[in-house]
Amino acid sequence: MAVRIGDVAPDFTADTTEGTINFHEWLGDSWGILFSHPKDFTPVCTTELGAFAKAKPEFDKRNTKLIGISVDSVESHKAWAKDIEETQGQALNFPVIGDENRRVADLYDMIHPNANDTLTVRSVFIIGPDKKVKLTLTYPASTGRNVAEIIRVLDSVQLTEKYSVSTPVDWNDGDDVIIAPAISDEEAKTRFPKGFKTLKPYLRITPQPNR
Ligand code: BEZ
Repeated sequence: MAVRIGDVAPDFTADTTEGTINFHEWLGDSWGILFSHPKDFTPVCTTELGAFAKAKPEFDKRNTKLIGISVDSVESHKAWAKDIEETQGQALNFPVIGDENRRVADLYDMIHPNANDTLTVRSVFIIGPDKKVKLTLTYPASTGRNVAEIIRVLDSVQLTEKYSVSTPVDWNDGDDVIIAPAISDEEAKTRFPKGFKTLKPYLRITPQPNR
């Protein structure tokens, strides 16, 4: 069954390149990003894992743990890690789940049989400290993900969980945000002391509140 925004992220215990992990316990009070790869020793995946590992300090700043998965064994992941380091100039610095029996892939509906009935698609799940799914993304195997976009949506999700705002098209951290329509003008004056511009009654813009 598909995992949707607002669902509790399915829990599991699995072997990873950093030992056995119980997912919810491992997340603790952190945010988490679980992302799947079609297969070890494949070109696009090799570039993605190197890029996520390089960006780990950005995820750390956002109290967010990374965990990868593919339907190959932990032994295979460990051998592949040497190629990732050699070709991408960055060692893996987060766990990758060995999911040979596709238990986790099935739990998260990462296998799309009409795309390929054995490989996982490129799924991304952002999970909050409450263990609820905040975002899902699905890319075909042939398209590598964009790490900057994943950091951008993580920033938006973390901000909009905390304040009654949403983020407009192409928003980036630091840009103006939109006040939730449910907030009255009176309330907006106290909640957003930097002020706001009313373009339409339903479209009120304010500077990012935590900046
Ligand atoms: C890749 O990572 O390059 C890849 C993996 C599976 C299918 C297509 C591309």
